[in-house]
Amino acid sequence: MNIFLDTANIEEIKKAKRWGVLKGLTTNPSIVAREGKDFVKLAKELCDLVHPYPVSLEVVDRTGEGMAEQARTISELGRNVVVKLPANPEGLAALNLLKGENIKTNLTLVFSTSQALLAMSAGATYVSPFIGRLEDRGYEGIGLVRDIMHIHNAYKFKTEIIAASIRDPHQVIEAAKTGAHIITMPFAVLEKMLLNTMTDTDLEKFLSDWEKVPGRGEAFSRRRVENVG
Ligand code: G3P
Repeated sequence: MNIFLDTANIEEIKKAKRWGVLKGLTTNPSIVAREGKDFVKLAKELCDLVHPYPVSLEVVDRTGEGMAEQARTISELGRNVVVKLPANPEGLAALNLLKGENIKTNLTLVFSTSQALLAMSAGATYVSPFIGRLEDRGYEGIGLVRDIMHIHNAYKFKTEIIAASIRDPHQVIEAAKTGAHIITMPFAVLEKMLLNTMTDTDLEKFLSDWEKVPGRGEAFSRRRVENVG
């Protein structure tokens, strides 16, 4: 299972890279707008920063032909670009137009199993069911991912499933239990996955007890280790 970040914020990406857990990036027009930066420059920077892992960039045309044309253009912004297409009739038409062009695709805004089934059978590289946005509206999000994984495994589709639109660490764990290949999340959720007040409290106790250990000043000194050797 791979962890992707759902952000276009350079600092957040750098922090996740430092933890060694970042295996890809997803964006959408709202995420990009939040940064207030020139799109082409930002997209190139994101691709360089996340390379060799994939970076999803979304098209904004409403027609299949227009989306396919935008897909060809933005796929040149980096070697690792994945083109996000909406899981609607025009998005599926764009996917079909791009067949054989070696452009990776991520069918996004997936809210039903039938959308995912069509996207998988049409050969999408990735499919992104939106858990949080479903649950925000009172529907069951994790069940959707579970059903998609069931169909995926039954027919051995090559498409990878990205559990997307994640609100909290609990949804991450529930999505992971479905066997989803990838989970993409905001940086705030990734950070929360590591936070635990018991870890903090108990670490404080270890560190204060350490102050009572004789010879602690030399414990981690390289010179001391060399002398002993
Ligand atoms: O990848 C999913 C994402 O772009 C939408 O997430 O958090 O805006 O529902 P969110």
